[in-house]
Amino acid sequence: MIPQTVRNISSAVKTLRIQGCINCLYKRFSIMPSGQKSLPTRYLGQPSPFTHPHLLKTGEVTPGLTQIEYALRRHKLLSLVQKEAETLGSSDHAIILLSHPTYYMTNDIPFSFHQNTNFLYLCGFQEPDSILLLHTIPGMSLPSHKAVLFVPRRNKNQELWDGPRSGVDGAVALTGVDEAYNMAEFRQYLQQFKDEGCTLWYDNEPPVHSVLHSDYLQPFVDMKTKSKNVVKPVRVLVQYLRLIKSDTEIELMKMAAKITSEAMSSTMFSTTSPVNESYLCAKFDFECRARGADLLAYPPVVAGGNRCNTLHYVKNNQLVQDGELVLLDGGCEYSGYVSDVTRTWPVNGRFTTPQSELYQAILDVQKSCLSLCVPGISLENIYAFMLNHLGQKLKDVGVLQEKCQHDIYKTVRRYCPHHVGHYLGMDVHDTPDISRSIALQPGMVVTIEPGIYIPENDTSAHPRFRGIGIRIEDDVLIMDEEPVILSADCPNELPEVEKILNYH
Ligand code: GLY
Ligand code: MN
Ligand code: MN
Repeated sequence: MIPQTVRNISSAVKTLRIQGCINCLYKRFSIMPSGQKSLPTRYLGQPSPFTHPHLLKTGEVTPGLTQIEYALRRHKLLSLVQKEAETLGSSDHAIILLSHPTYYMTNDIPFSFHQNTNFLYLCGFQEPDSILLLHTIPGMSLPSHKAVLFVPRRNKNQELWDGPRSGVDGAVALTGVDEAYNMAEFRQYLQQFKDEGCTLWYDNEPPVHSVLHSDYLQPFVDMKTKSKNVVKPVRVLVQYLRLIKSDTEIELMKMAAKITSEAMSSTMFSTTSPVNESYLCAKFDFECRARGADLLAYPPVVAGGNRCNTLHYVKNNQLVQDGELVLLDGGCEYSGYVSDVTRTWPVNGRFTTPQSELYQAILDVQKSCLSLCVPGISLENIYAFMLNHLGQKLKDVGVLQEKCQHDIYKTVRRYCPHHVGHYLGMDVHDTPDISRSIALQPGMVVTIEPGIYIPENDTSAHPRFRGIGIRIEDDVLIMDEEPVILSADCPNELPEVEKILNYH
């Protein structure tokens, strides 16, 4: 049963999808297709159509995504706020999203920066230490609003170390928000919302950027919670928008899945026996980046032999021996969208009989689960089906010894401790606050990833299967009729996998 609020939001998102025609947007936001006329010709804090014409077309904020698409997202968010606000009775709203900070590996050596995806989704701005504020305009009702970015001040000394910053002019010209200011001006700007009657939409549990939160938001949030004003979370509303992908987002996800599939095939092709997990890990990373990926979407699991049974194995530093399988769970990020694919193969090029029996069993289960990926069915429904089907297969192939076949449901969950899948998008475990019990809708992307993991010391499994772990994972776009397997180019049939491994 889907809760009422979820149903309201879902139907609002659907309606908005239909209403959100681009022409309305041109009118509504006065954005012209040939926008960005005043784009600075200098380097900004991220690629721009001027400095990186090989990556972005005129009018794009990030590769493939235009100012119009970002404006449409903000417009949809404000429409959801409007719907939620009907019960609050307030007419003034301020929505605040924080960027990520820079994280440091040691002392003053930064990790590669990765933006907060909710913030990125709404404005495309790729710099740390920034704030996006969307607020109602006096005399105008929602979803009309003003979009304002607060960004790091340009500073020669700092830019010597970290590279160019966009500054306020660059931020406005690139992203198409209404206004931008230096961060120091945020406190003063926020004063206009301190009156009672203004609802603050802001997530502080936990804050996305602890320093920006304590410097700028904490006093304001405290003041709000002590008064009659309301502070409401905004994260879930953004996630409802992110759940349904637009046509352009689908193109980016197709590209991420295609790159990952090709990189996986290449990695299979380069496998030797024995092989170091670190070699396969480096090969997969290289093959993704060489095809245009920005980075890997998460630390890949490259687990040989019995290490497949450690689900989050990321040490990737052991030799995989002749006769062993290797499980590679990896995916790339391409212009802010990710893929998440797993394949398992024998490093010597030939599945043993127990390996092939278990592999085929999981592939059969995966194919059945994939066929269930249609509107109206939930991931929870598919999970229940997967457990039943895996249970049957464990019996059929003889993994379970006669004496321990009584509590099959519990047994299956022991051999497959994870879910059948999750939502996929800008994050690998995307939109995590959205329940897996809601019905799938066209435009959602999910993973389907059944697996069986049998530790080498598991005496309740038949000895010939001990030490084997296999997962097969693909990315699936939900459509009205048939699902589209985004990672379909990645080999999965047993003879096909063996052919690639032996093609020398
Ligand atoms: N790579 C993480 C997952 O499959 O959920
Ligand atoms: Mn996954
Ligand atoms: Mn995965």
